[in-house]
Amino acid sequence: MSGSRDNRAIILFGPPGAGKGTQADRLLRDLGFEYIATGDILREAIAKKTPLGRRASEYMNAGQLVPDEVMIPIVEERLAKEGRGGGFLLDGFPRTVRQAEMLDKAAERNGIRIGRAIYLKTSREVIVQRLSGRRVCPKCGATYHVRNIPPKVQGVCDRCGSELAQREDDQEQAIVRRLVEYEKQTADVINYYRGKGVLAEIDGDLPVDESYPQIARLVAEDHSP
Ligand code: AP5
Repeated sequence: MSGSRDNRAIILFGPPGAGKGTQADRLLRDLGFEYIATGDILREAIAKKTPLGRRASEYMNAGQLVPDEVMIPIVEERLAKEGRGGGFLLDGFPRTVRQAEMLDKAAERNGIRIGRAIYLKTSREVIVQRLSGRRVCPKCGATYHVRNIPPKVQGVCDRCGSELAQREDDQEQAIVRRLVEYEKQTADVINYYRGKGVLAEIDGDLPVDESYPQIARLVAEDHSP
C-alpha cells in the first residue's frame, strides 16, 4: 500500500483517433505521472520482435483487440510499481469490461485510487479524418497530423529529426475494423465508469487547445480520497 500519499489513476479513453495520445502528451508535461499506454507497449514489443510483439502484431494489423489474457498481466505488473508524481495515466486501457474489473482489483491491491475516467467522445467523420492524416515518429513516438498538427518541416519529426511514417493500422480497412471493435467491446466501458460515478465526458471533436484545458481542470479538481 502507498500510505497517505494520493496515488491515483487517471483513465483516458475513447475511440481510435479520439486524441488520447495527444492529450496524454500534454497531461504528462503538466503532471509527470507514470504513463501506461498499452498501444505503445505493444508497438515497442513489435519493434523489438519479442514473443509478445509477434503475437500482438497479427491482432493489431487486423484492427482487432489483443486478448485480455495477454493484456491484463502486462498492466498489472506496471501498476505494482510505484507511480511517478502521485499516480498513473492510463491510455488505451481498459478496453473491455473485464479489463476494467481487473483494473479495480489491481488498484485496490496496490493502494491506487481510480480518479477520473475521461471519455473523449468523438464523431466518426472526425476519427477517419484524423487517422488517415496521422503521421508518427518511429524513433521518439511523437505524433502529428498532416493538416491539423503538422510538423515544422513536412515528413520530419520536430523533436528528433527522424522521417515520419504512417501506422500499419491506419490503413482504411484496419480503421473500419477498429471502429467496429470499439463499438462491440469498448463502448460498454463507458457505462461501467458512469455507474461508478467517475466518468467525465469531453467533446473530442474540439481542437486540442480547446479540449485540453477542460481535461487539465478535471484532473486538477479531482482530489477527493
Ligand atoms: P492504441 O495505440 O491504443 O490505438 P487506438 O485506441 O486505436 O488509438 P489511437 O492511438 O489510434 O488514437 P488516439 O486516440 O491516441 O489519437 P491520437 O492522439 O494519436 O491501440 C492500437 C491497437 O493495440 C489496438 O487496435 C489493439 O489491437 C491493441 N491494444 C491496445 N491496447 C489494448 C488493450 N487494452 N486491450 C486489447 N488490445 C489493445 O490522434 C490521432 C490523430 O489526430 C493524430 O494525427 C493527432 O495529431 C490528431 N489529433 C488528435 N487530437 C486532435 C484534436 N483535438 N484536433 C485535431 N487533431 C487532433
